Amino acid sequence: MSSGAPRIYLDHAATTPPDPAVVDAMLPYFRERWHNPSSIYVEAQAARQVIDEARATIAALIGAAEPDEILFTSGGSEADNLALRGVLAASRRRGKHLITSAVEHHAILDTAEELEREELAEVTLVGVDRDGVVDPAAVEAAVREDTVLVSIMHANNEIGGVNDIAEIARRVHAKNPHTMVHTDAVQSAAHLGVNVDRLGVDLLTFTGHKLYGPRGAGALYVRNGTPLQGQILGGQQERGIRAGTEDTAAIAGFALAMSMAAERREADLDHERALQERLMAELPKHIPMLAITGPREASKRLPGNVSCTVAFVEGESILLALDLAGIAASSGSACTTGSVEPSHVLVATGMPAELARGSLRFTFGRGNTDADVDRLLEVLPPIVQRMRALSPVPVSEAPEAWKSWLSN
Ligand SMILES: Cc1ncc(COP(=O)(O)O)c(C=O)c1O
Repeated sequence: MSSGAPRIYLDHAATTPPDPAVVDAMLPYFRERWHNPSSIYVEAQAARQVIDEARATIAALIGAAEPDEILFTSGGSEADNLALRGVLAASRRRGKHLITSAVEHHAILDTAEELEREELAEVTLVGVDRDGVVDPAAVEAAVREDTVLVSIMHANNEIGGVNDIAEIARRVHAKNPHTMVHTDAVQSAAHLGVNVDRLGVDLLTFTGHKLYGPRGAGALYVRNGTPLQGQILGGQQERGIRAGTEDTAAIAGFALAMSMAAERREADLDHERALQERLMAELPKHIPMLAITGPREASKRLPGNVSCTVAFVEGESILLALDLAGIAASSGSACTTGSVEPSHVLVATGMPAELARGSLRFTFGRGNTDADVDRLLEVLPPIVQRMRALSPVPVSEAPEAWKSWLSN
């Protein structure tokens, strides 16, 4: 551990620190207002009202026509699972073709794979370009008569590529009006703001803990008329689609965090973009044989995300050294941290697997400053240099296949 200097958190895409105002707003629901919202007495009805208000607030923020189009879940993973399983189960008579992309979060990819194993889905995976972005024309081309659902993420959690969901939805619906379009907006909801009509989607996933809200609260937006079969059976909560006693505290905190994200969006965006652009410009100058991954253009990239690959080193080893130096970062999706497999996202972009092993992800948030970028630029280059010196692989010429990726 370094000299007692404050630690630097550069992993906001994994989770964000809950805003103190959100925590304060949640506390009464643990201490005094903890009643079951489904019960009949006055305290329970007050809890019900809190949930109704949270639902209305969130519905208005994302442009939903009705509060009932918001189904509360335990988070993004559950909402993704519900979207895929729920639409396919409710659409069996129409078919079982599901289209998704090779760079989705595992909450989508693993569910799609499992549905295929269970013979409940036939899955088409569309590829991506070098920046991890899906071509809307490729999605359109994959749509068939029996395609019941298309699920393409809004912004990629590892390398920050933003998909043109409005264009994808427009093309899909034009080719097959019966096909539903879902987007996983877990990473984009805070930064870009989402409006379900502008995006043209039928279902949309988002979650509280990526926008300074609590863990354990997420939602699936489901446009009225979308076929969806519940996957957690039991009580009649969430219109009978998602059983389970509601977590009033988490839902209230989630709604407040969403409102605060909307109010602060411009300021947050400017702040995170400035740090992002500076680090993206500086990293290749400080470290030879480093490739920035994902889109370079700000308009095509998730604000606050800087991802790169460092040739001839393991990303995981760099992360451990950064941790010792007081910097918390990630090599990609937090869910895959600890695994030795190269990122499925980078592999899908066409990057050679060996090069992809050096992947790193820095994601900025409200609390970061220019001094954090200075510190990272001070400690990272000597770490890379030291590791390359220890590498069993001689650091000489990069293999031919790596050259187009390593611009410096
Ligand atoms: C794109 C994306 N989808 C889904 C999830 C899962 O969300 P949750 O952690 O709320 O289950 C994540 C979390 O990292 C994510 O980045």
